[in-house]
Amino acid sequence: MKNTKLAIIGGSGLDNFEDFKQSEAVRLDTPYGYPASGIKQGLLNDVPCVFLPRHGQQHEWPPHKVNYRANIHLLKQLGVESIIAINVVGGITSSMSPKTLVIPDQIIDYTYGREHTLYDTGDYGDAFAGGKTFEHIEFSYPYSPGLRTQLIDFLQRHNIPFVGQGTYGCTQGPRLETQAEISRLHRDGCDIVGMTAMPEAALARELGIDYVSICVVVNWAAGITKDTLEMESIVQVCAESMETIKGLLPTLCVSIGDNENSKPS
Ligand code: HPA
Repeated sequence: MKNTKLAIIGGSGLDNFEDFKQSEAVRLDTPYGYPASGIKQGLLNDVPCVFLPRHGQQHEWPPHKVNYRANIHLLKQLGVESIIAINVVGGITSSMSPKTLVIPDQIIDYTYGREHTLYDTGDYGDAFAGGKTFEHIEFSYPYSPGLRTQLIDFLQRHNIPFVGQGTYGCTQGPRLETQAEISRLHRDGCDIVGMTAMPEAALARELGIDYVSICVVVNWAAGITKDTLEMESIVQVCAESMETIKGLLPTLCVSIGDNENSKPS
């Protein structure tokens, strides 16, 4: 199997990515069960790359049921060293209006009951553990600083508007939040709210894979404006914004995937 250094994890609205060339479907088991359907390994703009639709090709897995452990473990098996994750989110603070692209730098995890670590068997026999039983991973900066810098440089060079930092509050879903829950997240310092950053980011860190996210704001979070949240409008903004993301990913791949120095700090 070829080693591929870069992976894109697609979120809602990005379950298929037709721009992949010479792609082959990846079907692999992991010690944590089966990963998402529809994973492809191929070339994006001539750069070897893996595409993993987090929710599966048919968007069949809701956020709390995604097999995050199998997804990340599979990417490690494929030799992936850097992940660009795409996440749709709701905006909480005033600069996070719908259609904004955000490169978050922090996470607060409000999820519960998700399989959130690879280290939970006691006799952890995974090939990537290097004989360790478990480790308290360093996670002060959940998004890899070096890869974030590369991503931000890329967006600046291409004059793509974005917000370069923000705290992502990760809720359990699949329902949207109450107004009081969003007020609490705001008080806690969250700028955006979504359902998929965790445990994905932490699992990538457990396996030593660099991880960054491009968050796409698709609605104002509950109670931020007087309007009630309409699923139809969320889906429409999501579809429009994913066209922007699909447009920028091929060039971003060249910028990050071809760069031998892409191993960040
Ligand atoms: N809340 C949680 N997740 C989301 C939202 C939201 O408002 N919008 C898109 N993903």
